[in-house]
Amino acid sequence: MAEMTRKAEETSLSRRQPPEKTVGEIFVENPKMTARNVDIFYGDKQAINNVTLDVGAGEIVAFVGPSGCGKSTFLRSFNRMNDTIEGCRLEGEVKIDGQDIYDRKIDVVSLRARVGMVFQKPNPFPKSIYENIAYGPRIHGLVDNKVELDEVVEQSLERAGLWTEVKDRLDQPGTGLSGGQQQRLCIARAIAVSPEVILMDEPCSALDPIATAKVEELMSELRQQYSIIIVTHSMQQAARISDRTAYFHLGSLVEVGDTRQIFTQPKHGLTEDYITGRFG
Ligand SMILES: Nc1ncnc2c1ncn2[C@@H]1O[C@H](COP(=O)(O)OP(=O)(O)OP(=O)(O)O)[C@@H](O)[C@H]1O
Ligand SMILES: [Mg+2]
Repeated sequence: MAEMTRKAEETSLSRRQPPEKTVGEIFVENPKMTARNVDIFYGDKQAINNVTLDVGAGEIVAFVGPSGCGKSTFLRSFNRMNDTIEGCRLEGEVKIDGQDIYDRKIDVVSLRARVGMVFQKPNPFPKSIYENIAYGPRIHGLVDNKVELDEVVEQSLERAGLWTEVKDRLDQPGTGLSGGQQQRLCIARAIAVSPEVILMDEPCSALDPIATAKVEELMSELRQQYSIIIVTHSMQQAARISDRTAYFHLGSLVEVGDTRQIFTQPKHGLTEDYITGRFG
């Protein structure tokens, strides 16, 4: 009897701590990006602990988990955005199409065009709406002339659901738009360079439900061509738009799987607690 109680207690405890190995499907058949045994440190402090995960071609993966568990830190490792943070160091391996993105030969500027990023807080350049979009395609040599550039600008704004709102004031500063408009401008800027992967860190947290719906619609349209990783605190959003969901806890990837399975039949106790709102 005592043995049974002890076992039950152990099971209950183990369900409340990150497992040694991630539960669920970390690998996919057709990976676009692969992270292997990734550890990330800020100085002496370890923020990400041995995370392995594939992101499939044409897949939307949602990163969820309590505040401070490392979602943004891990997300930034996919386009080396952590390089810009003093004292931040990565061990392990991240690849795109089988190529190590931390290789010395990699040009980080081109990498960030292939793996674009949209931040939680909109950060338009202090330039006109037009220039915010035109800058990337121009410096990456994606267009030959002004007509083509105009086209890319219009198309990108259109796809981000912003064109009709700004078409008559393209020469005005991007910073003069409302918060939600600025965020859609940043999304338009990210897609203007035809990235292969888009990283989104809580892209809708400053948006109203209408703008959020537009962004979600855009994401499901983009997934035909791109892979998307989105960090979100909205369980409804993760459930609506993602193919797979990854649950992080204290720097570990606890569980990953088909979004429906994660939300209806989570395998790990920590995932269950979080998605049922018991903590987090
Ligand atoms: N620039 C930094 N310098 C030092 N420590 C950092 C830095 N950025 C994040 N951290 C630490 O790394 C850990 C993970 O933070 P991170 O921002 O990745 O979490 P998160 O899951 O994105 O949280 P949130 O949901 O609040 O955005 C936290 O303990 C945080 O304090
Ligand atoms: Mg974050």
